[in-house]
This record gives sequence, structure tokens and C-alpha cells, in this order.
Amino acid sequence: MAKIKLSMPDLGLARKRLQKDTPTYNYQITKEYSNIGQNKTYYIFTYGCQGNEADSEVISGILEDLGYVKATDPYKSNLVILNTCAIRENAENRIWGVLGNLKGAKQNNKDMLIAICGCMPQEENATNKLLDSYPFVDLIFGTHNIYDLPKLLKEANDKKAKVVEVLSTEGAIYEGAPKKREFKHKAWVNIMYGCDEFCTYCIVPYTRGKERSRAKEDIINEVKELVKDGYKEVTLLGQNVNAYGKDLGLDYTFGDLLYDLDKTGIQRIRYTTSHPKDLDLKTIYAMRDCPSVMPHLHLPVQSGDDYILKKMNRKYTHEEYLEKIRILKKEVPNISITTDIIVGFPNETEEEFLNTLKLVDEVKFEGAFTFIYSKREGTPAAKMEDSISDEEKHKRLDRLNVLVDKYYLEGNKRFEGQVVNVLVDGVSKNNLNNLCGYSENLKLVHFPSTDKSLIGQIVKVKIIEGKTWFALGELVNE
Ligand code: 5AD
Ligand code: SF4
Repeated sequence: MAKIKLSMPDLGLARKRLQKDTPTYNYQITKEYSNIGQNKTYYIFTYGCQGNEADSEVISGILEDLGYVKATDPYKSNLVILNTCAIRENAENRIWGVLGNLKGAKQNNKDMLIAICGCMPQEENATNKLLDSYPFVDLIFGTHNIYDLPKLLKEANDKKAKVVEVLSTEGAIYEGAPKKREFKHKAWVNIMYGCDEFCTYCIVPYTRGKERSRAKEDIINEVKELVKDGYKEVTLLGQNVNAYGKDLGLDYTFGDLLYDLDKTGIQRIRYTTSHPKDLDLKTIYAMRDCPSVMPHLHLPVQSGDDYILKKMNRKYTHEEYLEKIRILKKEVPNISITTDIIVGFPNETEEEFLNTLKLVDEVKFEGAFTFIYSKREGTPAAKMEDSISDEEKHKRLDRLNVLVDKYYLEGNKRFEGQVVNVLVDGVSKNNLNNLCGYSENLKLVHFPSTDKSLIGQIVKVKIIEGKTWFALGELVNE
């Protein structure tokens, strides 16, 4: 198949932070593309973080604007898009596996167009491998040009060629793109894109570009529209939401945004992800003062050891992290705190690992995503010496998880006997006689009911039993 390489990824270029002002564009589709999806179906596989889920909603919106209709069977659709994640090697291995399945499907469905987007194509190695070993992939694009999808699709369709366009720029902001949201009661709202932190293990600042905040008016208007449409909950998204506004040079921070969004009438506000270094008092006060800001905070700590934190370029110490937790628990006494932890960072000693366990005991996180360090080519940590065996890393992960699970359970048990407000998401997967949803503290709650009219509503549920991963309750009739 002919190849049209419009542009290839370049991690060196992606690392640069040159531009002062971020350009903002208004999304529009030109007539030339307006019906390229007529009589065609699409299916998107989404991997990774909420940022990717939000991007997939934009991609769906754009495709439906072009006339595409969502397929029920991915393997029979005209267009399959894999929106990928590059954060760890195992995330990438999953994608290579799915591609293997798609190869077979394409043999039975020759007209199927296969596209790959998201963070993986932003890596040179991944895109080269896609070009060398996966000839049946028709279109490769990155995180910066999903708004060019109509043009790219037309090119791939018309020229019957493989099209590659991955931009390694700092990125722009697009307003006004259509979104096909997955839920009718809760919505993702991007408040910023990219990341300037450059934690030494992390590929995200390279795949997502520089930190760039949306104008507060655009965010507030989006939330107001969601309220009008009956949405109950928004989750504000950014790699480091606590840095919101810094790039705009205005005296308006994330805390200010929370106070303003609280006035829109939205019932629940959540946000992710936070950086401990940038979590400020105003944000904590907003959590205390604004009824709509939910009492849950995901505050990734990564390690409890000062030397490892320094090597990770996290810019805080064990004690500084604890101090923020003390303030949070004082101002928002009912708060639930969850975190992310990496074990087996290059040359992490047993003693350094024990400092992480100590911190888990001190904070009593009510949940944690725990990971074994994964080497990401192009990041500073990839060049660090590492003499810790994989076996040892796995053992540490197991030891950490035992402790994390203990506090997970305690976090659910502390609500036993209490009545909590649950925003109902749908029918429980494992028991069709149950509904499930999340409490204000982001506890997954299951309760017996087959009344589907409750989906999308906030209901009162009395917690009967806290388990490790969820809580069981019963509806309280008001
Ligand atoms: N290896 C393991 N975990 C990682 N994370 C980010 N990069 C890596 C990596 N190279 C984890 C961090 C981050 C979460 C989203 O993924 O804990 O907070
Ligand atoms: Fe990665 Fe650190 Fe940015 Fe989070 S803050 S996305 S861990 S570089």
C-alpha cells in the first residue's frame, strides 16, 4: 500500500517548550467533507485515562457530524479507531494484541478502514513498528490533530493509501467541536491540556504537549449548557488541574474556577488529576465551601521516599505531602483521599520502598492505583541504572497492595449504617437485580432495585456492608 507520510513523531521536538501563547481555533467542518461518512459505520476502542475517553467523545461527535453511525459490532464496521495509551508497556501490549484480532477481521471485511490515534503514535518507536509490522493499518494520527480527522479520513479513503500525520508540536486549543457524550447524567469537561511537569518516568508531557488552559468563560459556559441539558455531575480534566490558568498569566487559579463553577447549578463537581506541589489553599477552601465540590481527592503521591521523589522530579517531600493531607482532613473532615503509587523506580532500595508503605499507613488512602515502574523510551528515567529484579518489583507490588486493600476496605466500612447520596449509573454488571452508582466520596455502591427510571438520578442509599472494592446498600424511601 502506498504511504503518505504527512509528518512523523519526534520526541526531541515534543520535549521543547517554545511558544508563549497557545492558539485557540474554532472547530468547523468544511462542505467538502460534510458527507464522507454517509452510509458508513464506526467503532472506537478507547484505552487509558479519562483524557482519552473525553477525546473519544469528540472523535465520535466529529464522525457523526460527517454522517457516520456507531456500529454495534466493531468487526463489521467500516471504520475502526483505536484510541491508545502509552503510559506503561503493558498498556501498549494490549494494543498490539487488539491489532492482531483486527487483522483477521479485515480479511473478512476488506473495506474496513483501521485508524490508530492517541498517545502511542506520538512515540517514534511505536509509529515505526506500526509502519513496519502492521501494514493493514490505514491511518495513524496523534493527540494534536483529531480535529483534522475529516481531512485525514478523506485522504485515506480516496487515495487508498496509508496516511500518517503525527504532530509533535506544543498543541493548540479547539473550541466548539461536537461531542457525543457517553452518559446523559455525568460529563467530562477538559479544563486544560498537556503537561509541563516532566516527571522523569512519564511520557505524557511528550505525547500531550505543553500545559494549556481553556478560557474560564468557555469552561463555565460548557458547564452551564450541561446543567441545562440535565447533567448532574462534571469531572474537570487535566494532567495537573492545580496548574490551571498559570499559562494564561491571569490572576485566576483552579480554586477560583471551582468557586465559579459551584454557582452554575451543577450538583456535583469532581476533578482529576491533582499534583501535590500545586494543590493550594484556595482549592482546599473551595472543597470546604462549595456544596457541589465532592469530598474526594485523587492526589497521586508516586513514592513516600524523599530521594526517590527527587529522582522522579516530583518537587515535594514525604513531609510536605503529609502536611497537605493534614490541612485537607482538617478543612474537609469527611474527605476520601486516593492516590497513585509506583514501585520499583530505578534502583529503589528496600528502605526507600518501606518509606512508601509508611506513608500509606500514615495517610490511610481509601484507594490507590499501584503500578510497577515501566521504562518509557525518551524519558530521563529510562537512562537511569536499575539493578532491581522484576521478581523483587512484583513482590513489592504485592506487599503494597495488601496494605492498600486494607485501607480500601476500611474506607468502605466507615460508611456502614450511614445514608449516602448515590448518582445512579446503571444496572450492576454482576447482578441484574441491582443498580449501582457512586456516592459523594466516590464509593461504588450497589443496591437492590430494578427501577431503571432511577438511572441518572441522585438517590439515598443506606450502606449495609462495606467490601474492599465496593459497598452494598439499600434504597431509602424519602
Ligand atoms: N511506569 C509506571 N507507572 C507510571 N505512571 C506514569 N508513568 C509511569 C511509568 N513509566 C503512573 C503514575 C501516574 C499514573 C497515571 O500512571 O502513577 O500518576
Ligand atoms: Fe506525568 Fe507527572 Fe505530568 Fe502526571 S504530572 S502527567 S505523572 S509528567
